[in-house]
Amino acid sequence: MSRLPLRALSLGPHRVAMPVLLAPMAGVSDLPFRELCRSYGAGYAVGEMLSCHQELWSTQKSRQRHVQTQEQGLRIVQIVGHDPDMMAAAAQAQAAQGAEVIDINMGCPAKKVCNRLAGSALMQDLPLARRILTAVVAAVTIPVTLKMRTGPTPEQRNGPELARIAEDIGIAMLCIHGRSRADRFLGAAEYDTIAAIKQQSRIPVIANGDIDSVDKARRVLAHTGVDGIMLGRAALGRPWIFAEFTAAINGGAPAQIDKHERIRCMLRHLQAMQRYYGEEAVVRLARKHVTWYARDMRSGAEFCKGFHAQTQAVEQAAYLSSFFARDQDVFATV
Ligand SMILES: Cc1cc2nc3c(=O)[nH]c(=O)nc-3n(C[C@H](O)[C@H](O)[C@H](O)COP(=O)(O)O)c2cc1C
Repeated sequence: MSRLPLRALSLGPHRVAMPVLLAPMAGVSDLPFRELCRSYGAGYAVGEMLSCHQELWSTQKSRQRHVQTQEQGLRIVQIVGHDPDMMAAAAQAQAAQGAEVIDINMGCPAKKVCNRLAGSALMQDLPLARRILTAVVAAVTIPVTLKMRTGPTPEQRNGPELARIAEDIGIAMLCIHGRSRADRFLGAAEYDTIAAIKQQSRIPVIANGDIDSVDKARRVLAHTGVDGIMLGRAALGRPWIFAEFTAAINGGAPAQIDKHERIRCMLRHLQAMQRYYGEEAVVRLARKHVTWYARDMRSGAEFCKGFHAQTQAVEQAAYLSSFFARDQDVFATV
């Protein structure tokens, strides 16, 4: 099998050796998950979106979305909002605390964001989008990137126009989810708009949307010629997917993430979440991640039922250990 044709890319002073990126995912791409994906080869991992409303920043949830100075890799903070001055101030505050890249969210269709004309809703108001991008780029000296969709609706694919505006303003990289805002997560992602944006751009362009395997990435790369691939849902319960991409880029043998490694990965993830969130807050979040891991398990339903019945962090850890001690073959197909 030929190599996956991706090369290191530059982002201001930073070099991204492995241009396979973990997508920003609210409620998922927290520090423990970013570090885990990075340990399997993710070259770049974006944090969960942080509102530009600094009056909300003192909550525990919000603080965990701020830049984390203990992060091992590049510290990338994604901000979301509708007001250019507030977005600029938020970027400045995060940069002052150690962020190395600011990502602007114009890709998220979530309602509570869109009610305030933020996220992907900004794609229907390009003058406002331009003011936000200009304000943020002017406010910081670190690279600013943009996450966007193809347009507000399938009929109005103004992605190339926004991409040109962004590049002219000084945005350092574009990550494009191949759906319009109106599509939400429905239907299949399309890559023609991404190809058109890549063709017109001199800055790195990253393709995102429905890429769930090296083979799919290969097809998307052939179609678009992009500089990198961003994975979101494909990494849920499968952080080792980045090892498969790393092996494909390096041209080595396919990565063997066997059943033992998968078990080690889950245990490592649970411990990291417990350390980060504390014993109380971790319980619900751990259930969410374990449900994703269980999709690949032979006895996933039984496993999940037992795990979800545990109400304390220490019980959850004990349940995992004893389940795996009994059955080392839960990931039976690998
Ligand atoms: C649970 C979840 C949370 C998400 N949160 C964000 C977010 O905070 N910021 C953002 O720009 N996109 C967010 N997205 C969109 C993803 O970054 C990505 O663009 C989308 O899932 C398509 O990629 P995929 O098909 O690889 O999952 C989220 C997606 C999911 C599934």
